[in-house]
Order: sequence, then C-alpha cells, then structure tokens
Amino acid sequence: MPTVPPLDVPVIAAPMAGGPSTPALVAAAGEAGGMGFLAGGYLSAAALDAQLDDRSARPYGVNLFLPAAPDPDLAARRAAVAAYAARLAPEAARYGVELGEPRADDDAVDEKIAVLARHRPAVVSVTFALPSAARYAALRETGAALVATVTSVDEARVAQEQGFDGLWVQGAEAGGHRGVHHDPGGDAEQGAVPLADLLPAVRATTDLPLIAAGGLVDGADVARVVAAGAVAAGLGTAFLRCPEAGTSATHRAALRSSSGTDGVRETVVTRAFTGRPARALANRFTAAYSADAPPCYPELHHLTRPVRAAASSAGDPEALHLWAGTAYARATEEPAGELVARLGRECRDAGR
Ligand SMILES: Cc1cc2nc3c(=O)[nH]c(=O)nc-3n(C[C@H](O)[C@H](O)[C@H](O)COP(=O)(O)O)c2cc1C
Repeated sequence: MPTVPPLDVPVIAAPMAGGPSTPALVAAAGEAGGMGFLAGGYLSAAALDAQLDDRSARPYGVNLFLPAAPDPDLAARRAAVAAYAARLAPEAARYGVELGEPRADDDAVDEKIAVLARHRPAVVSVTFALPSAARYAALRETGAALVATVTSVDEARVAQEQGFDGLWVQGAEAGGHRGVHHDPGGDAEQGAVPLADLLPAVRATTDLPLIAAGGLVDGADVARVVAAGAVAAGLGTAFLRCPEAGTSATHRAALRSSSGTDGVRETVVTRAFTGRPARALANRFTAAYSADAPPCYPELHHLTRPVRAAASSAGDPEALHLWAGTAYARATEEPAGELVARLGRECRDAGR
C-alpha cells in the first residue's frame, strides 16, 4: 500500500484553495525538507493539470473537495438559497455586480481524479466527504497514498474502514473550511473539537499515519503534535503570507494589519461566504450574514463569488472571505523555505 512519505522536517504546507496554494509554494516547502500540497478545489481539471505540469521534483500532495451526499429535500434547499440571495441583494448593489448563479456542481471531481492518475502525486487528500466506492477505486488508480480529512473520531473510524492510508486530523482552530463530513446547519461551530483533544482521541483508535492541523504556527506547536503521535503537522495560515503563496493582496493586508496590537480581529466560523462552516477573520459580511446563511455548499460559494471578487479588487476586506486560523496573529512573513527550515530547527530545539 502507498504510504505518506517520511519527511526530514515534519511540516506540510496545507492545501489552500482559492489561490494561496501555488506550485512555487509546494516546491519551496518540499525543497526545505517538508512537503507541499496543491489545492484542487475550485480549479478546472485543465487548470489543475497546468499546475501539476509545474510541479516540484520532491514528493507532493494534491487535495480534492468531494461533493457531499445529495440533499433529499431539494425544494427546501432551493428556497433557502433564494431567501439568502434576496438578503444579499444590497451587497451586489453596493459592489456594482450581479450575484452569481447558485450552481450545485460537483467541482469536476472525476475529471480531476483522471488528471491525478496521469501525474501520480505521492499523496492525494480528500475533504468534505468520503468517496463513493467507484471514486475510491478511481483514486486508488492514481497510485497515491490516500488521506481523508477528518474532524471527529467517528469520521476517522469510517475513513479507516474504507481503506484510507492516512488521516488529516483537523482541529477546531483551523483556518478555512472545516472538513466536517455532514453539516446539519445551525451553530457553525457545533461539534468542533480542539486539536489537543481530537489528536489523542483519534490516535487511540487507529495506527494510521496522522497529519495534525489547526492553529499550528511555530516549531513548538509542531513538536507538540509530533509528541502526541502525528507523523507531521499541517500548517495553512502560517504559509498565507509567504511570498510564494497566491494569497490576494487584500487578504494579506488584513492578516498583517490585524496581527498588530491595534485593531486585532477575532476569527469566527461562518457559512456566510460558501454555505459550509469556515474560519475567517470577522468582518462586516460575517457580522451581517452569518446568522442567515443556510448550509448550502457549493451554491452559496457561487452566489457570493462576484461580491467577494469585487471587494478583493477594490482592496476592501469587509466583504471578502479572509480565511484564517485562530493562531493567525503569531504567523510570520518570510519565504516558505526559510519558514520550513526554521520550524525544523525550532522543533528539534523543543526536543523532537
Ligand atoms: C486560505 C485557506 C484555504 C484552505 N483551503 C483548503 C482546501 O482547499 N482543502 C482543504 O482540505 N483544506 C483547506 N484549508 C484548510 C487547511 O488545509 C488546513 O487544514 C488548515 O489551514 C490548518 O489550520 P491553520 O490554518 O490554523 O494552520 C484551507 C485553509 C486556509 C487558511
């Protein structure tokens, strides 16, 4: 069976869809002794293919978003999306755009799996759901070690039963989307388990290699999760301000300015941007819409996209999804290779 490759530095640059993950970031993380991940989410299969043509010589991973099981009550779902669209009409007017078409697509996942079978990355991870038997078989054809993102002991158990080779154990602190397999709506943070509780609980139930993620930014954080039984730490937010990351200028500026002593923003978990719980810096949009946003991913992602794009282009952080983990204010701004090397040194100094 394929396995998660051993790393000189137990640090993985986490997949970050929507721009931040780039081939340059993946190459820099790999060349410094860690490992990078490309994010297949939202990309077309052709765009993913092009990113993989540009790939690193070092082992790397690719993440895919898997669509959730179909909603049995489609009429209610459509009505909820329409009601949310009506709520957002003033935002579209404010930014001079039309709301997007709330499509319920599957992110072209089968086409992307076919692309991966040609490029043969070392690791493929999946997020949001576990694959059908047919998709699992297709993923196996890529030859990669298959890793499932899990947020609970139950999700970990089902992923292990399906035959996954490793688990990406995502704690409540993580930036971006929560990988929870079923989102029942209601409180967006319900059931979220802090990594310090989740990692040992999952470790106690499986011998699979675990990658621990959520709120980790320095070498002491990495050493702590390795001591708790992870083969590596998966860091997302820590890499967002690296020059190799494709993070937008507006997102970078918000992270930077919020990290100072003045005007520090809270992070909140919200469905307001995409319809799935995700952790972001609080802004006007999260305050205004989090309570009304229905659990309808990816329809809300497509619906809000033009507003978010217009806000980003205008340098306005108040209607943009500013994904960030709870530890974002401790993150630094340095080249990814230097970051990985420093994390390795700090981790060794901490006794690992
Ligand atoms: C901007 C951003 C985008 C993300 N996109 C993805 C993604 O495409 N796929 C995924 O599995 N996780 C995604 N995540 C979650 C990360 O892979 C990782 O689990 C998380 O960043 C770890 O927490 P941290 O941000 O506190 O380091 C994203 C996180 C951020 C901050």
